Amino acid sequence: MKPRIIVTREIFDEVLALLREHFEVEDNQADEVWTGETLARKLIDRDGAMTAGTDRIDAALIQSCPRLKAVCNMAVGYNNIDLAACTAAGVLATNTPGVLDDTTADMAWALLLATARRIAESDAWVRRGQWQTWAFKQRLGTDVHHATLGILGMGRIGQAVARRARGFDMRVLYHNRHRLPADMEHAANASYVSKEALLREADFLVLLLPYAPENHHCVSAAELALMKPSAMLINIARGGIVDDLALIAALKRGGLAGAGLDVFEGEPALDPEFAQLDNVVLSPHAGSATYATRLKMALCAAENLIAALNGGNPPNLLNPAAREG
Ligand code: GLV
Repeated sequence: MKPRIIVTREIFDEVLALLREHFEVEDNQADEVWTGETLARKLIDRDGAMTAGTDRIDAALIQSCPRLKAVCNMAVGYNNIDLAACTAAGVLATNTPGVLDDTTADMAWALLLATARRIAESDAWVRRGQWQTWAFKQRLGTDVHHATLGILGMGRIGQAVARRARGFDMRVLYHNRHRLPADMEHAANASYVSKEALLREADFLVLLLPYAPENHHCVSAAELALMKPSAMLINIARGGIVDDLALIAALKRGGLAGAGLDVFEGEPALDPEFAQLDNVVLSPHAGSATYATRLKMALCAAENLIAALNGGNPPNLLNPAAREG
């Protein structure tokens, strides 16, 4: 009998077809948003799951699913999964690193440029019919070229963002838990500085750290107070890394010139004050959202699940210790 799996969100038909060659699959092509209770009920007799970042895979859920052997997230981030609980229960957990780096780096730049040059605000202004005349001082933005780009979190995506800065002749500074080896710094054309120096010197600060409890509100009122009032913040990492209330307060009092935000605390519900601010560009957690990249992510998760349930080595196993239990 084939292992039984569940795919929690709508995915591409060709990936479902691949999964059906190996598994008995329950899909969710209607893309219903399942409550935690529904997910728990559906998972109870399953051997594996392909999940999205919107699915909370916590200790209680894992304990209620004794058959479960693998949870394969269709995302590089995995803060929705309790890794320790998976490991304790012998459940293999995987993510999709690598396949979305360039796409997410492109999106960081899209947000940065849109924020600097007021694209969303201008688009709305033109659509409202407010463009009555051309004026010399109309809709003035901020220069990106030759500015200082700060990157907090210098993993693969951070480095891809840094490499793109060459075309803009920018100075690139970064801060990371571990300093990169010299050859990687050279390839990224980036200089390592303290977090405080990064906050003080960046004209554009791009956040690219994974969410972990120790990174909660890593950019809060004290950090925002160090930034230049002319600076702009781009958050394409995770909600919760920035203290959204502190960010709104800084934007409102002119402590920061703008923000490009792809992620929010409590998303998809976001603080309604964000939508009132002209100097903010809002995006619905879409960093990796291109057809080609989402297809690669789904295939990557499927390959992980096939390997995990066939006794192989999932290429992106996060908790090898789960095998030892
Ligand atoms: C998206 O947020 C991801 O983690 O892949």
